[in-house]
Amino acid sequence: MDLGIKDRVAVVTGGARGIGRAIALELAREGAKVGLLDIFEEGMAKTAGDIRAMGGTALEVKADVGDADQVNAAFERFGAELGPVTILVNSAAVLDNISKIELMDPARWERDLRVNLTGIFNCVRAALPSMQKEMWGRIVSISSVAGVLGGFGQAGYSATKAGLIGLMKTVAMEQARYNITANVVYPGIIATEMFQFMREDMKDRIRKRIVFRREGEPEDVAWAVAFLCSEKARYITGTTLDLSAGITLFTF
Ligand SMILES: NC(=O)c1ccc[n+]([C@@H]2O[C@H](COP(=O)([O-])OP(=O)(O)OC[C@H]3O[C@@H](n4cnc5c(N)ncnc54)[C@H](O)[C@@H]3O)[C@@H](O)[C@H]2O)c1
Repeated sequence: MDLGIKDRVAVVTGGARGIGRAIALELAREGAKVGLLDIFEEGMAKTAGDIRAMGGTALEVKADVGDADQVNAAFERFGAELGPVTILVNSAAVLDNISKIELMDPARWERDLRVNLTGIFNCVRAALPSMQKEMWGRIVSISSVAGVLGGFGQAGYSATKAGLIGLMKTVAMEQARYNITANVVYPGIIATEMFQFMREDMKDRIRKRIVFRREGEPEDVAWAVAFLCSEKARYITGTTLDLSAGITLFTF
């Protein structure tokens, strides 16, 4: 199926590794020009190099999604060097601490909000002017089962992952008049470095709740996201797509 996004400019945050990297590569395979926005320079260079090696176009810009000035400057470069940005995928996020709410360092809470939620707010605001001008846009944000079910020891992470669902539904309503869609996918467990920091016994417990009894691959998310970024997904907006392979299903 031709997704109809050849030569469109797609910005992927968190594209230096993991799920964001797989999404960036998939969009490039579909012919999109890819802007990478991340703080991890080495990873971005690798993703961009792989895109160029397959004959695609990529531009990497180091920026912290939580800093509006850095985000705006990055989008100015994407617009000037690649063309009008009409696709935005928000994959950048942090999950590096597990502690019950009463033990949580308030600075961690603030940091989670700044990166995982305000980061999306900043990127959406930076991307909207070109999407509105082009009268076409696709925004996909990556949530998590923790945003839907909560996550033990993940107060900040789960709150931001729930918050972004409300944010995307609002953007979907406000921007429909410009043919801009906004959707969420929420993976369960995907084999990336973010998952690696969990203890092995925790990983095994989670695997038992997945109907396939194994974690997903970054590509499993990337294929779904690429479709939501496509011309063919023009009538899909305000949705939250469950990519947890059963974690949210009731089992005995
Ligand atoms: N891996 C999983 O099991 C899983 C499950 C559910 C949801 N998710 C979500 O999928 C998305 C991608 O996860 P992943 O597993 O690829 O994570 P990852 O940690 O491998 O990659 C995250 C990327 O975001 C970047 N990043 C972090 N802070 C940033 C900042 N302030 N500004 C710019 N970039 C920043 C990192 O440098 C990294 O490249 C995240 O939103 C995550 O919450 C992951």
